[in-house]
Amino acid sequence: MFRLAHVTDLHVRSFAGARLRDFFGKRAVGAINLGLIRRRKYRMDFLEELGKDLRARPHDHLVVSGDLGNVSLLSEWRAARSWIERIGASAENTTVIPGNHDVYVEEVVVSGAFEQIFAAYQRADARLQPNTYPFARLRGEVALVCASSGVPTGDLGAWGRLGEAQLRQVEALLAAPEVRARFRVLVLHHPPVMHRPPENRNLRDRAQLAEVLARVGADLVLHGHDHRDEFAELAGPDGRRIPVVGGGSASYVGPVERCSRYNIYEIDGPRFDLITYAHDSATGAFREFRRRTIS
Ligand SMILES: [Fe+2]
Repeated sequence: MFRLAHVTDLHVRSFAGARLRDFFGKRAVGAINLGLIRRRKYRMDFLEELGKDLRARPHDHLVVSGDLGNVSLLSEWRAARSWIERIGASAENTTVIPGNHDVYVEEVVVSGAFEQIFAAYQRADARLQPNTYPFARLRGEVALVCASSGVPTGDLGAWGRLGEAQLRQVEALLAAPEVRARFRVLVLHHPPVMHRPPENRNLRDRAQLAEVLARVGADLVLHGHDHRDEFAELAGPDGRRIPVVGGGSASYVGPVERCSRYNIYEIDGPRFDLITYAHDSATGAFREFRRRTIS
């Protein structure tokens, strides 16, 4: 059995070393939002508690599916990396992709700052150049194909797009023999189906991704973004269904069905158990919230 841990939407706050000139344009709006609203909605102490719980829970690999920061500051990503390091898994056994909050402004996408900070967690077994994304990592019986759906939207929209080049390469990686021989997990930040309107917070080319998956198949699609547990299915080849699982935010404050949480997938052949661990406000600790078998 392979235990895959899935954490998403950490939204780590840290302004250490940020300069005033970092806060023009979209970041200014984001920073005000961060000070006024997000400070109460996303709790760093809950994230610490989650880290402790996960550290004690056996897992073979950790996937972090984006939104490590809020306004794409280096300080946020360094603090997120330090959180990951405290979990104690090796870089080999940890995979990180960006979310829309990690591509908040064009300049960080151009500089590749996120990819530099998380380079050890993106070391690929298969990567189709020249794009950085998608990349594939092969771990035991599991293959992770990791795409980046975030784009610097230039407006306040939180929509995403994979684009033609990534879609083509996702298909090629999912079809590669060394990937196909394993349990294939596609990881992206935005849901590949629309759970929550409006359109300006969703994946624009989700129909094209669905077409790719219908042709090439996958065993599981993981995402974040909506800050709640979500489940859907997409059509695979030969009438097979592909489970699509969205994880809730790792630091969100709310009722237990949405509060700070993470998933573990116990993968055993074509079937797996999905176990969600959530922060329990009564005890301040994490507990098993839900378990379901998917086959
Ligand atoms: Fe998020």
